[in-house]
Amino acid sequence: MKIEPISLKIFRYDPCIDLKPKYIDYKVPWREGLLLLSAIKYVRDFLDETLAFRDYCCGCSWCMSCLMMVDGKGIQTCFRPLHPGESLLVEPMRGIPMIKDLVVDFGITLPTPDGIFKKMEGTLLKKIKPQKEGL
Ligand code: FES
Repeated sequence: MKIEPISLKIFRYDPCIDLKPKYIDYKVPWREGLLLLSAIKYVRDFLDETLAFRDYCCGCSWCMSCLMMVDGKGIQTCFRPLHPGESLLVEPMRGIPMIKDLVVDFGITLPTPDGIFKKMEGTLLKKIKPQKEGL
């Protein structure tokens, strides 16, 4: 039985060379336990070495460096399991200055569904306020 690959449509934009953003489609082979951040790493390692994203995984839902927009929702890509044949739109977090492709500048406060985070000395991001209604 053939296992369908994952289809990722990924936002690409390098402000230094591109006139406007574009989306590129990639196919990633599915395997048991594959997570979205690992699939994005696969794209960079085997399909397109120019893809920029934060290649770090704390593995404990602490750092939030893997936050991206996936099908229009901000999620932690290091915790998003993938299923055979799934198709996803992957974009940088909205409302934050974009540096390149999926990399944004977290040097500012960041509202998320889990609360407000701010970059602190010695950490990537630290929760400073609980979630407010309407965020
Ligand atoms: S890599 Fe730390 S929360 Fe995803």
